[in-house]
Amino acid sequence: MKIVKVELGENSYEIRVGAGILADAGSWLKEKGFSRKAVIITDTNVEPLYAAALEKSLAKVNIKTNVIEIPAGEEQKTLETAGSLYKKLAAAYAERSTPVLALGGGVVGDLTGFVSATYMRGVPFVQVPTSLLAMVDSSVGGKTAVDHGRMKNIVGAFYQPRMVIADIDTLKTLPREELINGMAEVIKMAAIGDKGFFEFLEGHMKQAMALDPAVLEEIVIKSTTPKAGIVSRDERESGERMVLNHGHTIGHAIEAISSFKIKHGQAVALGMVAENQIAVKLGMLPEAEAARIEEVIKLAGLPTALPDFVSKEKDKVFELIKHDKKVLNDRIRFVLLQDIGRAFITDDVKPELVKEVLFGWRKT
Ligand SMILES: NC(=O)c1ccc[n+]([C@@H]2O[C@H](COP(=O)([O-])OP(=O)(O)OC[C@H]3O[C@@H](n4cnc5c(N)ncnc54)[C@H](O)[C@@H]3O)[C@@H](O)[C@H]2O)c1
Ligand SMILES: [Zn+2]
Repeated sequence: MKIVKVELGENSYEIRVGAGILADAGSWLKEKGFSRKAVIITDTNVEPLYAAALEKSLAKVNIKTNVIEIPAGEEQKTLETAGSLYKKLAAAYAERSTPVLALGGGVVGDLTGFVSATYMRGVPFVQVPTSLLAMVDSSVGGKTAVDHGRMKNIVGAFYQPRMVIADIDTLKTLPREELINGMAEVIKMAAIGDKGFFEFLEGHMKQAMALDPAVLEEIVIKSTTPKAGIVSRDERESGERMVLNHGHTIGHAIEAISSFKIKHGQAVALGMVAENQIAVKLGMLPEAEAARIEEVIKLAGLPTALPDFVSKEKDKVFELIKHDKKVLNDRIRFVLLQDIGRAFITDDVKPELVKEVLFGWRKT
């Protein structure tokens, strides 16, 4: 088991990463001073796989658990589901001091985090991520939210967990497309901040996709360590934390145009490919380095060329990019690479260049 620390003064917490560590969750909660009872919120896919193991681990230290299950899927990340969870927490006699554990992917994590931040003005919250995306991205950093109307993550709160417990063994049951989805954020973390880690991915992506536990553990540690540092220095995304949006300015537009048929990870992969081309055309990023990133994206089973149905809508993609929330004074904000492992934030990309890259995108 390895530990990554998120330093946030009195809100500091640890990310514990290892194989089989679900069994240790109870004793770690006890060490944190929790006793008597806890609530686990999970979804219908994850509950039959891991809820009993987590419950058992808590029972060993005499913590009684209520398990609350929600249907799986992004459609559950709503105020309506949050409302039903408040009722279920009250029915379970959850008190101010009762820890609420989010067992599942990013949907369960974001929703449970939001509910924990608001129920009784805040109850202790523990992340037990079971998808790769949740382990490397959503469980770290304290962004919690629900979707509302057609807007994603529009209602939420910054609310840090007390602990993150990432059991690598749970990835064995993760559907392959979800593993691929999470790998986009892993590649992004390496590309923006850690060349050594990127080289590790070049050498080990095949083992990772074959679920080699040691490689996956390394990947989760290497992805969360820089995110933990960034969050410590810029918890509320007023500056440095924005580098995490590499690939996302264009990625979000592609995701939206596809009406979310393209998964987030695939869209981010495509966004990275396009944004790297912008950096190449600006003379910032050597072409050969952009090609190395494309190669790793392909090794992870992620796309590098626009699907036809998106390709036909390039005009709309361009309009959406221009209207992204990161646009400042008519300038589109991008996180570009100077080199693998070195990112910078710029408002200096002309819309014409974005258009040129988008419309010149070769098909493979
Ligand atoms: N808070 C943040 O900083 C942040 C960052 C990135 C993404 N997000 C959010 O995360 C969400 C996406 O997270 P996700 O990709 O984990 O989606 P998800 O929670 O929907 O999980 C993906 C699927 O895998 C299943 N699953 C999860 N773990 C499993 C396991 N071990 N075995 C078998 N099945 C398993 C889930 O039931 C679901 O069907 C989005 O709502 C996104 O907005 C938040
Ligand atoms: Zn993302």
